[in-house]
Amino acid sequence: MNLNRFPRREYLSGPTPIEKLSRLSEVLGGPDIYIKRDDISGMALGGNKLRKLEFLVADALSQGADTLITCGAIQSNHCRLTLAAAVKEGLKCQLVLKENVPGSYNPQASGNNLLFNLLGAEKVKVIPADKKADMGLEMQELARTLAAEGRKAYIIPLGGSNALGAMGYAACALEILCQSWSSRVNFDYIVSPSASSGTHAGLLAGFWGMSSDAPVIGINVLQKNDRQKDLVYDLAQRVAAEAGVHATLPRESVVCFDEYLGEGYSLPTAGMVEAVRMLASMEGILLDPVYTGKTMAGLIDLTRKGFFKQGQNVLFLHTGGSPALFSATALF
Ligand SMILES: Cc1ncc(COP(=O)(O)O)c(C=O)c1O
Repeated sequence: MNLNRFPRREYLSGPTPIEKLSRLSEVLGGPDIYIKRDDISGMALGGNKLRKLEFLVADALSQGADTLITCGAIQSNHCRLTLAAAVKEGLKCQLVLKENVPGSYNPQASGNNLLFNLLGAEKVKVIPADKKADMGLEMQELARTLAAEGRKAYIIPLGGSNALGAMGYAACALEILCQSWSSRVNFDYIVSPSASSGTHAGLLAGFWGMSSDAPVIGINVLQKNDRQKDLVYDLAQRVAAEAGVHATLPRESVVCFDEYLGEGYSLPTAGMVEAVRMLASMEGILLDPVYTGKTMAGLIDLTRKGFFKQGQNVLFLHTGGSPALFSATALF
């Protein structure tokens, strides 16, 4: 595996820390739980998208783009960080946002919405939940309009989750292995949110490419296993192939738990609220209501059920997203 074959910008100042969650581990009485702090990485309140954007924005610049276009939910962390990367590079940025719940878009909302305004999105196009509009088509329409004005857009797909973006999490797998080596802590499991799947698939490809057998446990926060497992597997295979990994990734390496999704993407669950409260009150760490809260709810429940055991080391990947807390004040 060689990731240097791809152009890359640098948005992280170095490896993100791995810390032990001593109080949470003690209270749960199961494995030793560690956290990788991708939530405090880089710019504009950080998060997992920065690792993907290092590769995607480098590609955009190499193609001579002057504008980034991307899409997401109305409180999208991915949109916030794509916009921040555009600002840093002197590019313009246009966003397509889709309501998940009818009537939920509020142009005055706090959280990521406030940051879209502050960071200076050139255009925000909102698609209502009741309209069967395709965000991909909407992005192409924006790109065509810009082309007609003599500008050049680069479209970044939902969540930055194509093979190039997911390369950022293949790189993160290498980083985790180096940190594991230098700290002499061997991780029995890595637990990650799994949505548009670039994070999960990139980690899988990276660990596989380094012949590491550390299982990656994806906690679904977007959809059920019947769709998520194929999504992760297809992307992981493409990442591995493009990164020059020769061995074929086994389908069984995709492990997803979908019982923590609740009613669906971004809809709150009691387990998520408990997990966000526990991490805040025991460890001073802020999770988010859409991704890391549900993922931590999965880790906590799997520990209580004995899936993760005493004597094991479990690494939780904190992918960021805490700005969305400020749009969910009623829950907390
Ligand atoms: C904070 C946070 N965590 C996790 C994810 C999920 O990552 P992925 O889309 O790569 O599955 C996202 C995606 O938007 C996110 O914003």
